[in-house]
Amino acid sequence: MSTFDAEWLALREAYDLPARSDEVEQAFIQALPNDRVQLMDLASGSGATVTALSHKLRQSGRQEQNWTLIDFDAGLLARAVEKHAGKPDLSVSARTVNLATDLSALPYQDIDAVTASAFFDLVSQEFIVELVGHLARHRLPLLASLTYDGRTEWTPHNGSDATILGAFNQHQTGNKGFGAALGPNAPAILAGELEKAGYRVIRQTSDWVIPTGHLPMQTALLEGWLQVAMELEVDPRIRANWDADRRRQMAANGLSMTVGHVDLCAIPED
Ligand SMILES: C[S@@+](CC[C@H](N)C(=O)[O-])C[C@H]1O[C@@H](n2cnc3c(N)ncnc32)[C@H](O)[C@@H]1O
Repeated sequence: MSTFDAEWLALREAYDLPARSDEVEQAFIQALPNDRVQLMDLASGSGATVTALSHKLRQSGRQEQNWTLIDFDAGLLARAVEKHAGKPDLSVSARTVNLATDLSALPYQDIDAVTASAFFDLVSQEFIVELVGHLARHRLPLLASLTYDGRTEWTPHNGSDATILGAFNQHQTGNKGFGAALGPNAPAILAGELEKAGYRVIRQTSDWVIPTGHLPMQTALLEGWLQVAMELEVDPRIRANWDADRRRQMAANGLSMTVGHVDLCAIPED
């Protein structure tokens, strides 16, 4: 499982969509102009945020949506633009930008609001402080969806769950291109920086629920957790036993999982 691979993004989308908080998204939509909206989505990948929000914007009566998608992966952006082409009220353009170095070059002055999903756990505190500075200067609302918050539960429980999760959460704070990543601390830090800058923050959990029998998603996650546990030198016997138990349960349709995320929307206070 690579974090940014198109196949992985497509697999996770089926769990992202129902997990997203409608309450948070509606609060964000209410903060937008009534008719025509200009949105910039950071780290868009293959355009999951447009998929999630465009019909809700339409239902809310917005007549026209213009999205600018930002990512450093031109291939993912091309898929996103293609996926959303041909809808009369929706235009999607893309810019290939390395957000780790060029955050200040984005067109904040031309947009009404910023969105991002599955992104802020990858970035550093410095990145958040800089981004919040740009948002506050331009009084832009933010929708930050599906930020990982460190909670993962497996049913049934296994005595090594805490060891595997501890290794994974530690790995989440490694450098993902932005310096030390916030990982599970991202939701709290993002909310805190936004509040300090005078934003009203609305947040809800948006956990993935992965029921028994959902083997492609469960296998992808299991392989990711085990890879990280290996990299962090978790005892090989613990890894092998945990892997064997979990695979046996999956084969018998007897394993379910939840993975904790937070959705957050931030509105500049008057
Ligand atoms: C987990 S994916 C989320 C993609 C999409 N927002 C979604 O919800 O499916 C993270 C995205 O961040 C992008 N990304 C990571 N580092 C980046 C950087 N330095 N500059 C621009 N994009 C970056 C990746 O290319 C990837 O598309």
